[in-house]
Amino acid sequence: MLKLAVFASGNGSNLQAIIDAIALGRLNAQVATVISNKSHAFALTRAQNSGITTFHISQIKYSGYLDYVSQMLAVLDRHAIDLVVLAGYMKLLPREIIDRYYGRVINVHPALLPKYGGPGMYGVNIHQAVLSAGEEYSGATVHMVDYKFDHGPILIQRRVNVYPDDTPDTLAARVLEIEHIILPRAVALFIK
Ligand code: GRF
Repeated sequence: MLKLAVFASGNGSNLQAIIDAIALGRLNAQVATVISNKSHAFALTRAQNSGITTFHISQIKYSGYLDYVSQMLAVLDRHAIDLVVLAGYMKLLPREIIDRYYGRVINVHPALLPKYGGPGMYGVNIHQAVLSAGEEYSGATVHMVDYKFDHGPILIQRRVNVYPDDTPDTLAARVLEIEHIILPRAVALFIK
């Protein structure tokens, strides 16, 4: 069974989509651990509610970079992780982690990469930029993670319509629904 480590910084609805897919028998995987850089992230609560071991690992908590990285590596090694899933994670993974798990880290991004990706392109900024550009479509992408934000090979993409009366929030909500579909599917691809 594929053992997942999920990284999340916020609400954790993408994490929840994975937990639910597993519970419904659609995903033969186990969320072995959830890691957040935010000690109060609701994603941690969601994990705890599902009996999943959680860790708060951040560069504030572990002031030394090497201590920060070694803590992260220790958690991943201890849980014998097969696949690292970034689900609404706002930090760049340390290079040492990507080196160790190269080809086994995926990320979900709320836009049709390669457009609207990269540093600063997160959350409502993305949807505002899509609307300002007058795009006819937006969507979500799951991609392999390399050393740059939102840059690695694309695994799954699905688009949504953009409507004239859309606000960044209404577009974000429509895209988020798609994220919840394609992220578990991307994990299933790895199982295959
Ligand atoms: C999602 O739109 C994700 O793509 C982006 O941040 C949002 C987090 O959603 N990175 P959640 O925390 O999974 O609810």
